[in-house]
Amino acid sequence: MSKIAVSILAANTLYMAQAIQKVLDAGCDAIHFDVMDGVFVPNISFGPNLLRDIKREFTVYADVHLMLQDPLKYIDVFAESGADAITVHVESNTYSQAVRQIHKKGLRAGASLKPSTPASALTNLSETPDQVLVMTVEPGFGGQELKPEIIRKVAEIRRLGYRGIIEIDGGVSRANAGLLVDAGADILVLGTSFFKAEDPKELVRFIHGLS
Ligand code: DX5
Ligand code: ZN
Repeated sequence: MSKIAVSILAANTLYMAQAIQKVLDAGCDAIHFDVMDGVFVPNISFGPNLLRDIKREFTVYADVHLMLQDPLKYIDVFAESGADAITVHVESNTYSQAVRQIHKKGLRAGASLKPSTPASALTNLSETPDQVLVMTVEPGFGGQELKPEIIRKVAEIRRLGYRGIIEIDGGVSRANAGLLVDAGADILVLGTSFFKAEDPKELVRFIHGLS
């Protein structure tokens, strides 16, 4: 069964509690928590306080995606705020130390690849990630269209012998979910398509049914 992590970047920030409730009511598996520093990506999003408050109020798996130039600085605070998995970009300055620190905290560690970063970037890593987050849009903004030419990267990652979890992030919708699961994705991140869905429960049932 393919899993769904909902990117709350696409939620109305003023009504975050209702948004999280909607994610849970629809039967999703996790929230995807996008953190941006305005340096690694040209946008700023949320910090650890919001994560802490969500985790105090809800029982929900938090899949944290750090789009930060220096993720190492922030691992501890996100771990203490309730992250269950923390993903850092292989293109960032402190990827390897950050993954070691995430593991030290007992959390699942992810490695994210921007669209222009080849699958082979994973072969030179000193730390093997538990999950790989394949970006199918340029990181920084929700609501973009998935770049279909990136889908083949999933098969390339498998060909390189990677056996961990593969997650796809950016522009995922009902229309392309089947293609992504067929390509070998285990987790799909849905932002805009979830919050704009007329019937989110039906969308979740449909994606969970793909295998
Ligand atoms: C982009 C973020 C994504 C994005 C997903 O930088 O990492 O998680 O918000 O949102 P949609 O599904 O709207 O592309
Ligand atoms: Zn993300």
